[in-house]
Amino acid sequence: MSSLQPSSISQPPIVQPPPTEPLGLSLGGDLYEWLRGGQLCLPPEEMWRHGTVVGEPGYGKTMTLLRLVTIAVRYGMQVIFLDLKGSQKTAAQFVAAMHMLGVERIAVSPKLAYDGWRGDANALYNRLMAMIDPGTHPYYRRITSALVSLAVNAPGGPPRNSQEFLARLDEKWLKYAYAGKVHWYAQRKIRKLSEHIFETSLTYDGFFDGVAGGLDGAFAYEDADAVYIGLDGDALKEQAVGMARYLLEDAAHYAKHRKAPGVRALCIIDEFGALGISNVAGLYEHMREAGLSMWASAQSYAGLGSERDKVLAASSIKILHRCGDPEELIKFAGQREVPAFSQVIEEEGETRPLLAEPARAPSRRTTVHMQRQYAVPIEDVQQLALGTIALITGGLHAWVQVYPVALPEDLLRVATAFVPAPPEEPSAPIVPPPTRVASKKAPRRTQAAAEGKDQQSQEAKPPEPVPAPPSSPAPASRPRPAAEEDDSPVDF
Ligand SMILES: Nc1ncnc2c1ncn2[C@@H]1O[C@H](COP(=O)(O)OP(=O)(O)O)[C@@H](O)[C@H]1O
Ligand SMILES: [Mg+2]
Repeated sequence: MSSLQPSSISQPPIVQPPPTEPLGLSLGGDLYEWLRGGQLCLPPEEMWRHGTVVGEPGYGKTMTLLRLVTIAVRYGMQVIFLDLKGSQKTAAQFVAAMHMLGVERIAVSPKLAYDGWRGDANALYNRLMAMIDPGTHPYYRRITSALVSLAVNAPGGPPRNSQEFLARLDEKWLKYAYAGKVHWYAQRKIRKLSEHIFETSLTYDGFFDGVAGGLDGAFAYEDADAVYIGLDGDALKEQAVGMARYLLEDAAHYAKHRKAPGVRALCIIDEFGALGISNVAGLYEHMREAGLSMWASAQSYAGLGSERDKVLAASSIKILHRCGDPEELIKFAGQREVPAFSQVIEEEGETRPLLAEPARAPSRRTTVHMQRQYAVPIEDVQQLALGTIALITGGLHAWVQVYPVALPEDLLRVATAFVPAPPEEPSAPIVPPPTRVASKKAPRRTQAAAEGKDQQSQEAKPPEPVPAPPSSPAPASRPRPAAEEDDSPVDF
């Protein structure tokens, strides 16, 4: 390649090594390839793979994750931080770090509500099913699946906010939307579902009430270079977990269908195990192929949830802070032969059967044999100090003192003032309440559909007016829990 260029002896082409960012100070191990001047650096291409961070509370997990975020930003990656603790302190640190690194497009939820309604009917179906508790009985799951499918696939286009969606979980609405012979199959489904619609809709009523408009906002992953989404798991555990599953499913859709080609993103989920995701392997694989690397964190191996082994298998890098049950992780660093010493008491006559040596008292003899043990000993991980980690990758390991992200006071002050959510949701309903009563319009539509005409143009039209849900109160008028009014002091 370079032979085609005119050569210049005085100015040889400068081959810049790719930049590497230190994670921290190396304290030992055998991962020599990642060492630069005594520091452990994650090469850029390693940040494109998945990782896992495990450690007891208070030993530096969040700081390590923030350090990874800053490294990713330096490597030109987009960063997404889903915080299932919803910590305002972490949010402020994240924002300050992004300001420090010159990131301009920063989005923080719940300060800004997320738009969870992008994509086609299939994408919405996947998201709305993802937030359902994975422990739900298959029978109810099937019913929910059929109802959600009807709601998102209704002629006129998919719903674009929670109120539109909730209004569709209603027999009258569905019958109206699917009027006409052409929809005979949907009508049959509606008849079969009829007695379950009310109770199934309650799940979604509860969920969207709980998230209090948090998925009906205006920004999504593609609108920022750094996204922090705080989910207040202490206040509303079920909703926070459901919303995290919803957002993770949306991250998969974003990575595959909405992300600009060439953009690489790092997505971190603190407290991953709480999500109880059942298709981790598939999800991780799709995300990696689409240029999105996932970093899950948990307080212990068990805390990674029921799919923990799949999470570990899919993670190229494992980071251990102090942790009581590290064995399943340290196995990935392999074993090594270490000399083991033991003392043998020689019995009289045992060692001198033939030689005519003078008799002597039984003596001790030290023997050495090689013994296999974990390259990263369990006890060493159980005793790790604050901010010290064992990093395992490719059968190798490194002991590292992680550099905390040093944030200037003024940036932190500004960020701390910035992150709290607004006290109240804007009260204006996103979807105006239905103004037209479904009356004679329906038969006309039915007629056209029955004649098999104009089906496409009907679907291209703006959505039909939403008939007033007769059995459930209008979503717009529901009291919203003050989930976002978290004004707890931020302690630095
Ligand atoms: N690598 C580190 N070096 C110095 N201090 C750290 C480091 N990591 C964390 N800390 C400090 O220790 C405390 C707990 O860290 P945190 O990251 O919140 O732990 P965890 O997320 O595991 O509960 C915080 O005050 C943090 O600033
Ligand atoms: Mg933490």
